[in-house]
Amino acid sequence: MTSLDARSVPADPLSAERLAAAGLEYRVDDLNDEATAQSFQRAVARGFLGGEPNAEALDYGRTPFLQRRNISVYDGTAATGDFPVATVNSWVSPLTVPGGDAVDMWSISVVTVAATHRRRGIARALLEGELRAAASAGAPMAGLTVSEATIYGRYGFGAAVPAVRLDVDVRRAGWGGVAPSGSIQYRERDELADDLGVVHERARVARPGQVAGWRTRWEGFAGVSPSDPDRDKVRGVRYLDENGELRGVLVYTLAEKSGSFRFQMDVRMLVAETHDATAALWRFALQHDLVDTVTADLRPTDDPLPWLVRDTRGVVQTVHDHGWLRILDLPAALSARRFSAPLDVVLRIEDSQGFTAGDWRLTVDQEGRASVETASSSSVDATMDISALSALYAGGVRVSALRGAGRVSAAADVAERLDRAFASYPAPALDIWY
Ligand SMILES: CC(C)(COP(=O)(O)OP(=O)(O)OC[C@H]1O[C@@H](n2cnc3c(N)ncnc32)[C@H](O)[C@@H]1OP(=O)(O)O)[C@@H](O)C(=O)NCCC(=O)NCCS
Repeated sequence: MTSLDARSVPADPLSAERLAAAGLEYRVDDLNDEATAQSFQRAVARGFLGGEPNAEALDYGRTPFLQRRNISVYDGTAATGDFPVATVNSWVSPLTVPGGDAVDMWSISVVTVAATHRRRGIARALLEGELRAAASAGAPMAGLTVSEATIYGRYGFGAAVPAVRLDVDVRRAGWGGVAPSGSIQYRERDELADDLGVVHERARVARPGQVAGWRTRWEGFAGVSPSDPDRDKVRGVRYLDENGELRGVLVYTLAEKSGSFRFQMDVRMLVAETHDATAALWRFALQHDLVDTVTADLRPTDDPLPWLVRDTRGVVQTVHDHGWLRILDLPAALSARRFSAPLDVVLRIEDSQGFTAGDWRLTVDQEGRASVETASSSSVDATMDISALSALYAGGVRVSALRGAGRVSAAADVAERLDRAFASYPAPALDIWY
């Protein structure tokens, strides 16, 4: 687990100065103060177009924010000067990297700007401030999940961890996998939250792209949160292997298709530590009586489901961006991961924020261990911006795709070597929003 605590990092002076020039105050807020916490949380809810949180929701939602560095922007000239016109928060989380080690990732969340203050450069000040704060704290990586895919590339983030939405027509799909050797049990909602935390914490270290979750995140999936309108619909089971060990959890809701007595199952979370557990939980979902369709999002691109059914066309897969990464310390980030093939190349990295710009010699030995140093020679093998390199980092985006899009400039043979080296096993995944 990481030793960095984002809460000890002060507000970025450059962003404070830039916003002050526009008459705005940018500061780290203390959410231990009740009134400040409520304003911050209400600003976040409004920023994400949510309803007004009631007292119970405010009280509940404050817990995770207390673990984070919460930044607000205030407009003293506005009638409601003590209500933030912009918010962001951050905390440091371990990010699993290819090969199974972890790097400290500066996680960024609740980026909102009031509709009255949009498109004046406030979000830019927030994001650049977060990146400078992260770099000053020594985090080699920043990460976020996004509402829109068009916002964060300009700050050097790349869509590194794709996810898959699965829509299953269970009658067409059938079941072609083996019968699991363990057992499945229903669980109460608070028990599901416990089980999710336990299994996710073990499973996340086996997948590049995964980050650590937190208690209220698991409670959210399990229908424990008071502000969850579907909480009473939540059901879930766990899988115990043949030795009685907890290995997987499935949490879902069921909705009837307008009086037909046929149902749709929406998987909220399926987390499993073993192949056996994954197969057993999918089998439970697909063979559930009265269920016609099963949907699940944030599944890995190498989910075995299409290979567990009799008719793979019963499983529609929609790949979309999910985990976004931004390398801040290039030598630290690249030498933390393992590569899949040897390499000796000079990369020219463009980075308009300056953190990683330059020519870098990346050498990977036979065991996949990398060393990175500043390149002195002028012969460059590949050129890309930091958003492209960040997209490649977790091993789930093909160099061939970025080269085809003009995002990586390299000769075909260099691109092929980069492609082999950066690809990861297993495919990266990220099964939560943060
Ligand atoms: C997205 C949001 C934070 C942008 O805030 P903002 O203060 O208006 O953004 P800025 O004025 O700082 O814009 C910075 C840059 O981003 C661009 N931008 C801003 N919002 C954008 C959007 N939704 N899509 C694409 N580009 C966007 C601007 O054009 C500007 O580009 P440039 O500097 O390269 O010319 C704000 O619209 C918002 O709160 N939206 C609702 C909540 C949300 O979706 N938050 C993101 C959570 S992941």
